[in-house]
Parts: sequence; structure tokens; C-alpha cells
Amino acid sequence: MDSIYQLCFSILFLVISYRIFKKLTIRLPPGPCPRPIVGNFYDIKLHKFECFNRWVQHYGPIFSVWFGSSLNVVISNSELAREVFKENDQQLADRCRSRSIAKFSKSGKGLLWADYEPHYVKVKNICVVELFSPKRLEALRPIREDEVTAMVESIFKDCTNPVNRSKSLVVRKYLEAATFNNITRLVFGKRFEGVDGVMSEQGLEIKATLANRLELIESESKAVWEHIRWLRWLFPLDSKAFAKHVARRDALTLQIMKEHSLAHQKSGETVKQSFIDALVTLQEKYDLSDDTITSILWEMVIMGMDTIATSVEWAMAELIKDSRLQKKAQIEMDQVIGSDRIITEWDFSNLPYLRCIAKEALRLHPPTPFLLPHRASSQVKLGGYDIPKDSNVHVNISAIARDPAVWKNPLEFRPERFMEEDVDMKGHDYRLLPFGAGRRVCPGAQYGLNLVTSMLGHLLHHYNWTPADGLMPEDIDMEDSMELVAQMRTPLQAIVAPRLPDHLYKRVAVDL
Ligand code: HEM
Repeated sequence: MDSIYQLCFSILFLVISYRIFKKLTIRLPPGPCPRPIVGNFYDIKLHKFECFNRWVQHYGPIFSVWFGSSLNVVISNSELAREVFKENDQQLADRCRSRSIAKFSKSGKGLLWADYEPHYVKVKNICVVELFSPKRLEALRPIREDEVTAMVESIFKDCTNPVNRSKSLVVRKYLEAATFNNITRLVFGKRFEGVDGVMSEQGLEIKATLANRLELIESESKAVWEHIRWLRWLFPLDSKAFAKHVARRDALTLQIMKEHSLAHQKSGETVKQSFIDALVTLQEKYDLSDDTITSILWEMVIMGMDTIATSVEWAMAELIKDSRLQKKAQIEMDQVIGSDRIITEWDFSNLPYLRCIAKEALRLHPPTPFLLPHRASSQVKLGGYDIPKDSNVHVNISAIARDPAVWKNPLEFRPERFMEEDVDMKGHDYRLLPFGAGRRVCPGAQYGLNLVTSMLGHLLHHYNWTPADGLMPEDIDMEDSMELVAQMRTPLQAIVAPRLPDHLYKRVAVDL
């Protein structure tokens, strides 16, 4: 018996000594001094991202922050981004799942929250090769154009309504409606908003599910024990609320799937372009579980919706602030398209200034200023520092895109900079990373870019935009919400005046 105790004691001694030795020899990036147990959790005042931006000034382009027992490393220059995405991409491609995220994603059954394992590689491949293939992207173009023209029509109705004469419109309302309809049609293959503008029961259910998800996440992320692994068991999640949420979401998805399979049986058609149809068709070929399909569908909705509307709102704010740039884009469109037809995606190649506006908006206002954290699956080195296994690496793409060391006058919105130098934004140039880079790069980048450019093109070709009544351009609030998706803190308002013949404001409806 004595020798068993001795053995246990020796093992414990060795483990503790090894841990102390590692802690003493490891060289972590600098950062605010952590307190026992809670780390820097209570140093975060108001917004986490605001603090990160402040700490960059103090500690430099790489620093570490402790939330309870988890180490977070924040990197903020393009050289370090290269080290993350080029030299250590695979080791930094896991995700950190909080307890609520683990519940929503059924422990990473989809793409967004899966660790970099064979399941992830398979699903990412399906997304790239099947869901976002150039062929499907082109086949879905009429839906994008339908929804963008529906947005133009809806703005036209409101701004020409005598009741609204010289009143400003809240731009976000139209952008959000257009992206909701677009992404839900892409994902679920049906339009939930009727021609009368009334949302169907299923559409309302999708919105309620998304809002409920946010509420559940928010209540969790503010609690310190979420970050202290050994304390969590004392504070169990409200498992009933999560189970209800997941059951509700899954039931809705199943209901839509059934509608599709009934419609297919009736019509005998099999080839459909929506993600739900594509994934059900590919289910056997790729051995996908129902949970994987449901997770992918909802992750697409979550990632696609806000990013697009937010990018367009920022771009419009910049163009309302500087009417010269707005005019320049309109002159380009008047020359290429004229005023007796509307813009289509096929015009993009002849509209370099419009494309530069979209790019400059994604540079100066990336919708996710910090990428979703990447978790280290093994210890790596960044900037000469040790980044231990299980650390979360946050890439501050906003700081990188505003770094005066690599951008001239970085705070100025100047689309011309991309006429002078063509900079890649899909993950090959580490100065400009609105879609991330490496293994976890956004699979919807081209789709998102097409939609952002199309929305901007239509808004600028169809209308003149001026600041809300009484506001000077310089009064427009350009602060952001400091959330994961950085919307404008104050929703943009503008006075909108049509500039094309009336018959060009009709929705071009299609049903694929
Ligand atoms: C302007 C539009 C968009 C922007 C700026 C954007 C940006 C991003 C960023 C920054 C990431 C995280 C990369 C990382 O973790 O390192 C991401 C991931 C992702 N995005 Fe997008 N996105 C856009 C549009 C879309 C659209 C339209 C969809 C789908 C319909 C989509 C689906 C996804 C998914 C599924 C992921 C997770 C990828 C993974 O973890 O491997 N995104 N996106």
C-alpha cells in the first residue's frame, strides 16, 4: 500500500514540478497584470474590443490578456498576421467553444465551430466545392438581383410617398431586409416575406430564433465563471432554455426540409440551387448527419446576414459624408450603364471605381474588426513569444487595415488607393483581411462581395444621398458598436432622391 502512495505522490510531484518549470520558462507576450483566478476579466470596462484597442497602444502589436484561466493573445500587425496564417495556420485553426456555443453547435457539428479535424476538412470542402462553387454562385445571381431590386423598389415607395416628403430614411432597415431575404433564400430556398411586405410565420420564427440565440449567448458571456473552467460546474447553464432553443430551431429546419422534399416529389425536379436542397442531395455522398446539415444552414444565416448589411451601411455613410466620391461613382455608372437600364453583376468588370468603394469600405470598416478567435492546438511561436496550446488568438484586422506603417493616410476613406495599387482581400495580402485568411477563411467571401457591390451599385445609380435634415456631413456619427459585428453605433439616416426614370424602380422578381 505504501509503495502505491509513494508512486502517486511521485507522479503528482513530477506533474506539478513540470508545470511550474514550464510556467517559469515560457515567454508570454506582454500584457496587463492578471489577478489571481479572474485574470484580467474585471479590467474590461464596457467593451472588450475597446480595451483591446487601448492595450495595443500600451503593449504593442502582440499582447496577452487572461480571462479567468484562458489565455488570449491579440495580434495587430500584418507581419504577425503572416505568422498566424502562413507559418502556423494549421496549429491555429481550432475554435474555442463556450458552453452556449457548444450547445448551439452540438459541439462543433457544423463548420463555424468545428475544430480543425477531418470533419472540418470535409465540411469546408463541401462549402467551397459544392455550396459556393462559381457555377452555383452564377445560378443564384437572379435571386441576388431580385432582392436588390426589391430593396430599390421599397426605398422608392417610401421616399416618394408624400407623407415622407423631405424626411430622412433609416438606411439600415432596407439593407437588413434585403440581406435577410437574400440569405434565407440562398440557405432555405424560399422567400419568407410576401409581396405585400408581410413576413410569414416561418420568417418570424427565423427572426425570433436568431434573437433568442443572441440573448442566450449574451447572458453567458458576461459571467466570470464561464472563463474559469473548474468553477463552471457550480453555475450550470439553463439547460431547459438551450434545449428549447435547439428543438425549436431543428423543428423549423425539418419543416422546411419536408416542404422541399414534397415539392420535389410533386415536380420530379431534383436540381435546386439552395443550400438546403444541395446538402440534402449530398447527404449520402458525404455521409452528413442531420445535425451537421442543420448547423451548417444556420451558421450560413448567422455569418452572412449582418456582415453584408453592415458593410453597405458603412460605405453609404462614407459616401454621404463625402459627396465628391458619391458623384464620382455616379459619373462612372452613368457612363457605363446610362439611365435607361439598371446595373447588373455583369457590369462590375466595367465599374472599377465602384469595386474600389466596396474594397475601401471593407478596409476601413471590416464588419468583424476582430476575427473569431483561433485556438492553438499546440504550442507555437508568434513574434518570438511562446503561445501555449489552448490559447485563443485574436487577429485585430481593423488595426492592421489602419496601420500607418503599411497604409498611407489610413484613416481617410479613399477608394482611389486601390486604383493606384491592387491589393488582394481574400487572404493573400496580410494587410487587408476582411474575410480572414488561411484554412478558416470565409467561404462566402465572393458571394458577400458580389452582394455588397450590387447593393452599393444600385443605391448609387438609382438615388442621390444627402445627410438627414439638419445634419452636416461631418456630424454623422462614425463610431461603431464595439461588438463582434461592428455596426454603426447610430443607424445611418439619409435623405434620398431618385435620379433615374420611374419605370426603373420596379422589382425584377424571379422564382428559382
Ligand atoms: C461582406 C461579407 C462577409 C464578410 C466581411 C465575412 C467575413 C468573415 C470572417 C472575417 C470570417 C472569420 C474568419 C476567421 O475565423 O478567421 C468568416 C467566416 C465565415 N463566413 Fe463570412 N463574411 C462575409 C459573408 C459571408 C456569407 C455571405 C456567408 C454565407 C452565406 C459567410 C459564411 C461564413 C462561414 C460559414 C464562416 C466560417 C468559416 C470557418 O470557420 O471555416 N460569410 N467570414
